[in-house]
Amino acid sequence: MTVATQTSFDVVPLTKHIGAEIRGLNLGDTLDAATIDRIHQAWLDHSVLLFRGQKIEQEDLLRVTEYFGPIGPLGRPAKFFPKGYSRLLPNIMMISNIRENGETIGALPDGEMNFHHDMIHHEVPHNGTLLYSLEIPSYGGDTLFASGYAAYDTLDPALKAKLEGRRALHHYNYGSTQRGVGGVGATAQAEHPVFRTHEDTGRKAIYINRLMTKLVIGLPQEESDALLEALFDHSEKPEFVYRHVWKVGDLLIWDNRCSTHARDDFPSDQRRLMLRTTVQGTVRPA
Ligand code: SIN
Repeated sequence: MTVATQTSFDVVPLTKHIGAEIRGLNLGDTLDAATIDRIHQAWLDHSVLLFRGQKIEQEDLLRVTEYFGPIGPLGRPAKFFPKGYSRLLPNIMMISNIRENGETIGALPDGEMNFHHDMIHHEVPHNGTLLYSLEIPSYGGDTLFASGYAAYDTLDPALKAKLEGRRALHHYNYGSTQRGVGGVGATAQAEHPVFRTHEDTGRKAIYINRLMTKLVIGLPQEESDALLEALFDHSEKPEFVYRHVWKVGDLLIWDNRCSTHARDDFPSDQRRLMLRTTVQGTVRPA
């Protein structure tokens, strides 16, 4: 490991509204404060950052996570390790479909996931999530990111006026990764504003999602369902979305305050293994 000083790097936008690739940085190096500040600013500007071709250890992943804020605690230690991996450090989660002794070794194992904000069912949701790819299937399993800012900025004014100042209820029930499938009971839930103001950028973003948002508070279920459906459809329009096609060694960080993400289906008989960390939230969404 080398300590970098005043590293120059390029920020290359991936789409008009969301995502940028950072080129020219090796995250195995410890970066200097000025470089970290520039990366942090790029994250605020683009909501999702991509670093390709990284060869990093778990210690590096934790160090990089801290460039963006305090590490979020994840209380889910691995029970098994796949061939070739002998440990998992605290606060790193495996996202994987690999099974050992008939049991999944990681979280969110199989298939498609609807758009969602990580941890929106908590009073203080995590600010960010990092995902580092170690094994990927030959096709599928893309992760899609939608800009909540672009969706808010272009929302129909009548719909905006109707929902401005309202709050919504969000459930966690990952018995399923798709809306309306599996159990209906929440294992945890929280209420937040339908439109969230990002505490660092001051910009407003749509803050509801298809997977976890159940109700606009104070509206009859039928009216709430219709409004939410319109918001989901608008928020997921292709022009607001960056689709990430994974390569081994990609590291992504996304901002859960102003973006949602979803996952495409992939072959269940092909291995997919990612390491995931989170950046803790510091405020209640407002
Ligand atoms: C997630 O939603 O946190 C996982 C996304 C993925 O597996 O691509």
